[in-house]
Amino acid sequence: MTPQLVRDPAGVRPALAGRGRVGFVPTMGYLHGGHAELIRRARAECDVVAVSVFVNPTQFGPNEDLSRYPRDLERDLALAGGAGADLLFHPDAGVMYPPGHATTVRVGGVAEVLEGESRPGHFEGVATVVLKLLNLVGPERAYFGEKDWQQLAVVRRMVRDLAVPVEIVGVPTVREASGLALSSRNSYLTPPERARAAVLYRALRAVQAAAAAGERDTAALRRAGLAVLAQEPDLTLDYLAVVDGDMRERPRVENDPMTRVLVAARLFGVRLIDNLPLFAAAEAAPGC
Ligand code: PAF
Repeated sequence: MTPQLVRDPAGVRPALAGRGRVGFVPTMGYLHGGHAELIRRARAECDVVAVSVFVNPTQFGPNEDLSRYPRDLERDLALAGGAGADLLFHPDAGVMYPPGHATTVRVGGVAEVLEGESRPGHFEGVATVVLKLLNLVGPERAYFGEKDWQQLAVVRRMVRDLAVPVEIVGVPTVREASGLALSSRNSYLTPPERARAAVLYRALRAVQAAAAAGERDTAALRRAGLAVLAQEPDLTLDYLAVVDGDMRERPRVENDPMTRVLVAARLFGVRLIDNLPLFAAAEAAPGC
């Protein structure tokens, strides 16, 4: 069924009131199978499911892809409805950030490395909009994809530090058959480019394989991934990092479910990120 479309921030809570436990899936739209998985999970665990579609301008840097970020509300309504959403919240940027808006949320620690270094201000934009969306929707549970592993850690940190009354649920990444993680930004790539972008996944798997073979030295683990990435001539690496649950790189890794390998790279003009648990059986969410 097509979800109820709500554009007015003040209309969300009244539309959900009295309908039981609210599950919330915040998105920037151009929904794909990964978002559908988040919505299905919320549907299975909650009484009513709200999805937000808001391309949040404050989490994009000045030279990033805000103006060309893909948008298709009709398609999003259909996909969200098909996966079980009851309500789709789609506010305007001017309503979310009216004149005089002057408050932002800055998370330290986990937000300061990797994406935080490469994209200054990004996590401040994410934390601010996520807190605002949580306040507008008032869910019992909010669902985030593990594809944005560091974002998930940042949101968990913020929710814990600010005592936001919501349970954050991390949902495993959905992948194409090639291994490429589903992402709205994949729409920028042609089919042959997408096939080649799966090199990121193969690099992560190579790091996993080295760990499975007993390697615990972080530099050696990184080298296993870098050797795979070097096979793709059009790739510009941003980072390949093996981190603990606090997003810290250590000289040696622990056989710990929180140890994760993360990669960010530019391919064919598109910045892509991905990650895997270092130890394949481990699929725990950050900060649990
Ligand atoms: O992951 C995303 O799509 C966005 O960063 C989020 C969480 C919806 C905040 O704008």
